[in-house]
Amino acid sequence: MNRIFSGVQPTGNLHLGNYLGAIRNWVRLQDDYECMFCLVDLHAITVWQDPVALRSNTREVTAGLLAAGIDPKKHIVFNQSQVPCHAELAWIFNCVARLGWLNRMTQFKEKAGKNREKASVGLYAYPNLMAADILLYKATHVPVGEDQKQHLELVRDIATKFNNDFGTALFPVPEPLILGEATRVMSLRDGSNKMSKSDPSDLSRINMTDDADTIAKKIRKAKTDPEPLPTSQEGFKGRPEAANLMGIYAALSDTSVNDVLNKFGGGQFSTFKQKLADLAVSVLGPIDSEMRRLTGDPAYVDSVLKDGADRANAIAGPILAEIQEVVGFLRP
Ligand code: TYM
Repeated sequence: MNRIFSGVQPTGNLHLGNYLGAIRNWVRLQDDYECMFCLVDLHAITVWQDPVALRSNTREVTAGLLAAGIDPKKHIVFNQSQVPCHAELAWIFNCVARLGWLNRMTQFKEKAGKNREKASVGLYAYPNLMAADILLYKATHVPVGEDQKQHLELVRDIATKFNNDFGTALFPVPEPLILGEATRVMSLRDGSNKMSKSDPSDLSRINMTDDADTIAKKIRKAKTDPEPLPTSQEGFKGRPEAANLMGIYAALSDTSVNDVLNKFGGGQFSTFKQKLADLAVSVLGPIDSEMRRLTGDPAYVDSVLKDGADRANAIAGPILAEIQEVVGFLRP
């Protein structure tokens, strides 16, 4: 059986990076896998979240997944905190993962910054909870953007060490699925930084909730350089903004970067940006209007999450019991 697990933090607007790096791939994988998509609220609180905002963001990001085309009847959509087995298994993995492994995590270093002593313990142990998310369901495939690659390596190490330590084959070693032409969407203001929710400049990202004028304005203002667009992939050297915008175009139009280079190479950024804005609006516009409709119906969104949590709990319970048995916990 092939099972997909993937997650997204409910911490504010979904942006184009989340969509192209992850959510659009999730939508496409639904035909071939049994899927579980999780709003990872336990991960969200590794940095401060306003409780009121966390609750409304959880609904909003759920609405985003549904609007993008996730089918909550065929697959499972739920928020992590409603399945207590995640936290229980994460504790077991805190005792499997080694400090040295976590010390190598670049995302912790970036997020904790210089003030490492003040970072939460949860932020440090974050990848162990990710391992619990995935392995609690014995998921085999994990579709993510490029930035999660290192965390998934750690998840694989945890699965392997647990299996070796206890002489079992309980956990599959999950495969990352990093798919498409935009696996790492960069900031529109600086092609060397990832597009992210935490960038203080809203101009750096395209939010899934931006209207057509805002999308067009952000693309118009996107940083570029004075040269014409490159004609081949070698031409991206030292031109991360050109690479980023052409990669976004390729992903949004479902073509390859080479096709985009053939079509626009040698031309001016201004003409290309206009075409890119039209394309982005045509793809994101319908998702945005469906998302707005769904956020206006919180009772429906809550019912999806409730149903998802019930079904996730039903799968997780027996697997956690199996894990407890292997670890040696008395289950009278
Ligand atoms: P999060 O919430 O930061 O991002 C959700 C998904 O979006 C992808 N992504 C991007 N892809 C391309 N370009 C970008 N600029 C970009 N920004 C974000 C991420 O790679 C991710 O796939 N730790 C995870 C959530 C998580 C998870 C899991 C994922 C928790 N448990 C188990 C998979 C399996 C995170 O913070 O994603």
